[in-house]
Amino acid sequence: MNPTDTHRLPGGARDPYAPVDDELGSVLWSDARLLGFGPMDETHQDFYRVAFDLLRADEAELPAAIAAVEAHAIDHFGQERRWMEETRFPSTDCHVEEHDAVLASLREVREGIAQGRLGSAVARSLAEHLFHWFPGHADHMDSALAAWMTQQRHGGAPVVLRRRGST
Ligand SMILES: [Fe+2]
Ligand SMILES: [Fe+2]
Repeated sequence: MNPTDTHRLPGGARDPYAPVDDELGSVLWSDARLLGFGPMDETHQDFYRVAFDLLRADEAELPAAIAAVEAHAIDHFGQERRWMEETRFPSTDCHVEEHDAVLASLREVREGIAQGRLGSAVARSLAEHLFHWFPGHADHMDSALAAWMTQQRHGGAPVVLRRRGST
């Protein structure tokens, strides 16, 4: 089964720039997900890459795959937290709370795999959850931070440049 056919958000929040519902919950990166702040957009593409590797990992690949997702998340969320703190971003708390909930799940699953209690079914379920979680988080939390950071650095609104045919 093609996983891109089965992982859609059930009508939840969507990126206003996203052209079609097909992009929601996709397990593949789309430029429709660009937020216009380059360093964050690069990190978000990495998120899709490591989460997809976890989704596809077999039992032998699982420990490395879950460790890679957790390491990515620590860097990703830490970077966003530093940006918020350094620039005194006004609504940091709920953003950080969402990050912390994801980190707790990743740590729990990583430890369960290391101890042999959890296997690929749980890891796959976690990866699916990540792909469902990310669009709403990006639209409601990261997009505000991206606009804020662009304003801080350049004094203007973010500019989203997408490749032709990507929308
Ligand atoms: Fe993010
Ligand atoms: Fe975030």
